[in-house]
Amino acid sequence: MTDPRVTELAGLLPGLKLSIDAGDLEHHGRDWTRRWTPAPMAVAFPADIAEVQAIVRWANGASVAIVPSGGRTGLSGGAVAARGELVVSLDRMNRVLGFDPIDRTLTVQPGIALEAVQNAAREHSLIYPVDFAARGSCQIGGNIATNAGGIRVIRYGNTRQWVAGLKVVTGHGELLDLNRGLVKNASGYDLRHLVIGSEGTLGIVVEATLWLTSPPLQTQVMLLAVPAMDALMKVFAEARHRLRLEAFEFFTDRALAHVKAHGGQDPFDTVHPFYVVTEFDAADEAAKDAAMAFFELCVGEGWVVDGVIASSDAQASSLWRLREGITESLARHRPYKNDVSVRIAAVPAFMDDMQRLLAVEYPDFEVVWFGHIGDGNLHINVLKPAGLDNDAFVAQCEHVTSMLVETLRRHEGSISAEHGIGLVKKPWLSSVRSPGEIALMRGIKAVWDPNGVMNPGKLL
Ligand code: MLT
Ligand code: ZN
Repeated sequence: MTDPRVTELAGLLPGLKLSIDAGDLEHHGRDWTRRWTPAPMAVAFPADIAEVQAIVRWANGASVAIVPSGGRTGLSGGAVAARGELVVSLDRMNRVLGFDPIDRTLTVQPGIALEAVQNAAREHSLIYPVDFAARGSCQIGGNIATNAGGIRVIRYGNTRQWVAGLKVVTGHGELLDLNRGLVKNASGYDLRHLVIGSEGTLGIVVEATLWLTSPPLQTQVMLLAVPAMDALMKVFAEARHRLRLEAFEFFTDRALAHVKAHGGQDPFDTVHPFYVVTEFDAADEAAKDAAMAFFELCVGEGWVVDGVIASSDAQASSLWRLREGITESLARHRPYKNDVSVRIAAVPAFMDDMQRLLAVEYPDFEVVWFGHIGDGNLHINVLKPAGLDNDAFVAQCEHVTSMLVETLRRHEGSISAEHGIGLVKKPWLSSVRSPGEIALMRGIKAVWDPNGVMNPGKLL
């Protein structure tokens, strides 16, 4: 039976596309975490800003919780609707609204896929440089709400660096036009940056103006085989010193085995404990010579035992696939995901401590390491053994997370580098943010969303 509040909303906004179809509820009620059973009351598909505003205002009056919904590729449960919420999907607001060649900005609606933003930038011989494997499915509104990172942060920073302006409907239903593409704007608190990374708890992004930049002239992709964990950061230090890096990512033999089982092509004859995939500028002979000198030095030092440089775009994609295919190849094992970060300089000591902890705590579980090691961001995925009940598995992993948090505290790191707190990491927020910080966050939430309709239960 239809919830009477949905009937009321439909009566109030007759033009609004609303669905209570079981398939839509299931599809739009979950993200990639797959831990919660989707149970939204309905899914609304607004077509414009006015409809978003009307929905939010109605939700305030009707005390209905809203879950803003993009591509739902998130890994922290931030877009899960499991408690009768109204999902507000931005799927229909997916257009490019304009390009400004002088400002070099692209203005888009929030439901546009990241890949479509990247393609639109290329039409103007520019790039939108934020990039990660979910580019075809994730949406820019979700990228902004989570301050998405990815594989090129080392060169270009997180999503935050590329947001020139934002239109946001607050939890109260007010439309804010934040920063308006200004490069310089010293007029008080920059509210745009509060929204970026707020995980849908303050308002809904309804339009974004993004800065674009020039593409690198030419890059090269190199895959390196690394014999030991302690060599990884030595290789990184040399790479950063000698090359202009676009990306520096690592993964383990276990990660590679899963990707290979999904069709990934391993260019090496033997298995190695660690791999690095790195991309760097190689526009002239000097840059290419620097890359060879870097490789030879690493081999000479014993930090690298084999390597491949891509000689075509196709080979570059195939090397990248070994890194980018990891998440998908692990998905069927329902991995428990840790997405942690420490300062780059703290990575070696942190990895040593973590390896010791995990060897003791997960003797029987398969643990897969990969990630953005050049940013100090490690993804540590624990795979569920086939026979183990999911709840028991999660409980055991959460117990270990509590210990991991101690290690993170010692190294002054974060429990979430890029996936966000959402539902998954909520119990540990207080381990990385002080009581003073959390009190301020709650205060900010109360001002932006006084009736608590915006993604309640997530983050805070
Ligand atoms: C990645 O780096 O591949 C993404 O953060 C996804 C993941 O951690 O699985
Ligand atoms: Zn990542």
